[in-house]
Amino acid sequence: MAGRIPQHFIDDLLARVNIVDVVDSRIKLKRAGKNYSALCPFHKEKSPSFSVSPDKQFYYCFGCGAGGNALGFVMEHDRLSFPEAVDELARLVGMEVPKESLQPADSARDKQIKSQFSLLDKANQFYQQQLRASDQRQRAVNYLKQRGLTGQIAAQFQIGYAPPGWENLLDHLRSGDTAEQDLERAGLVIHNEERHSYYDRFRDRIMFPIRDMRGRTIGFGGRVLGDDKPKYLNSPETDTFHKGRELYGLYEARQSTRNLSRLLIVEGYMDVVSLSQHGITWSVATLGTATTAHHLERLFKLVPEVIFCFDGDQAGRTAARRALDTALPVIKDGQEARFLFLPEGEDPDTLVRQEGNTAFEQRVSEALPLSEFFFRALGEDSDLNSMDGRARFSTQALPLIQAMQPSLLQQMMMDRICEITGLSLEQLNSVIDLHRATAQPQAQPAQHTNGADSAPPPPPPHWDELPGESQAEPVRRPASRSVQISPVNSLISLLMHYPELANQSVAAEELSGIQEPNIDLLRALLAYFQADSRRSLGTLVVDWQAEPGLQSYLMLLNEITHQAPVLGDAGVAHLYQDTMQRLTGRNSDSQLDALMKKSRQAPLSSDEKTLLNRLLRERSGLH
Ligand code: GTP
Ligand code: MN
Repeated sequence: MAGRIPQHFIDDLLARVNIVDVVDSRIKLKRAGKNYSALCPFHKEKSPSFSVSPDKQFYYCFGCGAGGNALGFVMEHDRLSFPEAVDELARLVGMEVPKESLQPADSARDKQIKSQFSLLDKANQFYQQQLRASDQRQRAVNYLKQRGLTGQIAAQFQIGYAPPGWENLLDHLRSGDTAEQDLERAGLVIHNEERHSYYDRFRDRIMFPIRDMRGRTIGFGGRVLGDDKPKYLNSPETDTFHKGRELYGLYEARQSTRNLSRLLIVEGYMDVVSLSQHGITWSVATLGTATTAHHLERLFKLVPEVIFCFDGDQAGRTAARRALDTALPVIKDGQEARFLFLPEGEDPDTLVRQEGNTAFEQRVSEALPLSEFFFRALGEDSDLNSMDGRARFSTQALPLIQAMQPSLLQQMMMDRICEITGLSLEQLNSVIDLHRATAQPQAQPAQHTNGADSAPPPPPPHWDELPGESQAEPVRRPASRSVQISPVNSLISLLMHYPELANQSVAAEELSGIQEPNIDLLRALLAYFQADSRRSLGTLVVDWQAEPGLQSYLMLLNEITHQAPVLGDAGVAHLYQDTMQRLTGRNSDSQLDALMKKSRQAPLSSDEKTLLNRLLRERSGLH
C-alpha cells in the first residue's frame, strides 16, 4: 500500500510535522537537554528510556529498541495502518493527501468497506438535509429546540432527521451501482423475508451519526420524537461499526480540544450533545452498552484521566461496580479513573441545563478517585467492624487487586487493605499467592463441578486479551521433579482448592491418633471448613491470622499448596476419598500394630480395647 502514496508527498508531510508535537500530544514529554524523554509507551518501564530528538525528527527507546519517525510513531501508538497514519498527520498540518493514492482497492473487501463508508456518508448527508427539507421537519426541529439544542450544536454533531415512511433513504440511495444488499450490509435498511423487499431501518427519528476517529460516519443512533419504543435505535454491528469499541462524541471531542486532558464517559447521546453545548466538550457516550476494556484502553491512549458518570440510582451504582471491574485491570501508572455520581433522577443533560457549566465542572472535580470508590463499594458489602466482614472484604478485594497492572495505585490499595484487615503486606501477599495457586486453570474442559467459593470469580472475557501479570505465570505447573507427595499434603492441597470437599470427608476428630507430618494442619483445616460451609480460603486466612496458634499454619499452607499442585477438576472427589483412605488405612495398620504391642506389655484401657476390636474387625473385613 505504501507505494501508492507518492514519496514526495510523504517527504513534504514529514518536513511539516514536528515529531515533538506529535509525540507530546499522546504521551507527556519532558525536556532533557537537546532532546525530550518519557516513559516508553511501547513497553513497561519505571524510568524513562524513551527519547525524542527534534533535530533528527526521530524517536528511540533504549529499553526496547522501538524507534522511527513521526509516521512510524503514529502507526505504532494509534495502531493505524500506514495510509491511516498519513491521513492523520496530513490532517494535523492541513495537507491534502493525493486522492488516487488512497485508493488501493487491493482486495474486494477493501473495496466493499470503502463503499460502505461512502454509503454511510451519503445517508448522513441525507438525514441532515431532511432536517431542513422534509415535510415533517418542523416537528423534528421543534423537538430539538424543546430539548434546548441550538442549531449550531446540531450542525456540529451533524444531527439529522429520518422522516416517517418506509422507503425514503432507500429511494434516495438506491441507484445503478448501489444495490439494496449494500444498504442492508451498512445497517441502513432491513430485509423483509416474506415480501422479498427492503425498508428503511430508521423512520421518524432524530439521527445521531456516530463517527470514527477520522470523522467518517460508521453508524447511527436514532431517537423517537415521542414516547414510542424503542426510544433509541442503533445501527446493528457491521464491518465498520462495533459497539464494544466505539464511543459517541469522541471525534467531536477531539475536534474541539487540541490537547484533551480528560474525558467524561456518560450514558447517552443527548448527554454528550447537551454537555458540549454548555462548554463541556470532552464527553463521550458508550452506545447503549457497558464500558468495555477496549473503550478504556482507547481512551487512555488519548488522555491520562477518565471520569465515569453515573445516575444516582441503583442502576447507576450497579453500572459503576461493573465499570470498576473493567477499569481495574486496565489502569497503569500515570492514568487515573474517577467516578461521578449524579443526584437521583438527573442525567448530565438535565443537570447541566439546570445548573450550568461551572456547577457541573465542580461536580466533576469532586468525582471519587477509583480507589475511594473501590473501598467504599466493597466496604458497603461487608461490615468492617466484624472479623467476618473483614474476611469477606479481603476475599472480594484481593482478586481484584491481583488483576491490576503492577502500579503505584496497586501498591497503595494493598497498603489500604492492610490497614483495614490488620494483615501485613507479607501476609496479604501470601493470601494472593494462595488465590493464585488455587485459581482455576485457564485451559480446562468446560464442565466444572467447581463450588469453591474461595476461587476468584471467572474474569470477564476481555481479561484474556490483556497482558496481565495474573496470566503470566502458569501456577499449576506439574512438579517436574518426581517428588513424593505425602497423602496428608495432597489432602491439604485438595482442600485448599476445593474447600467443599471437607463436607464429604471424615470428621476432623477421626484423624486423631495419626502420626504424620502436617497432620495437625490437615485436622485444623478440616475442622475449620466443616464448622461452616460458607467458609472460604479468604475467611480462613483472615480468621487464622487472628489466632496466634494458627498463624504459623498460613505460610505452611502456602508452601504445601505450591508443592502439591492440583492438576484439574476431573475426579477430585475420588482422588480425595482415595487419598483419605490411604491415610486412614495406613493409620489403622500402624495403630493396630501399636495396640497389639502395647497389649502384650500392659492391660489396655477400655477405650483402647474398643478401638482394637474395631481395627481388628476392619482388617478382617478387608482381607
Ligand atoms: P433522552 O431521553 O433522549 O435524554 O435519552 P437518555 O440518554 O437520557 O436515555 P436513557 O438514559 O434512557 O438511555 C441512555 C442511553 O441508552 C441512550 O443514549 C442509548 O444509547 C441507550 N438506550 C436507551 N434506550 C434505548 C433503547 O430503547 N434501545 C437501545 N438500543 N438503546 C437505548
Ligand atoms: Mn436524558
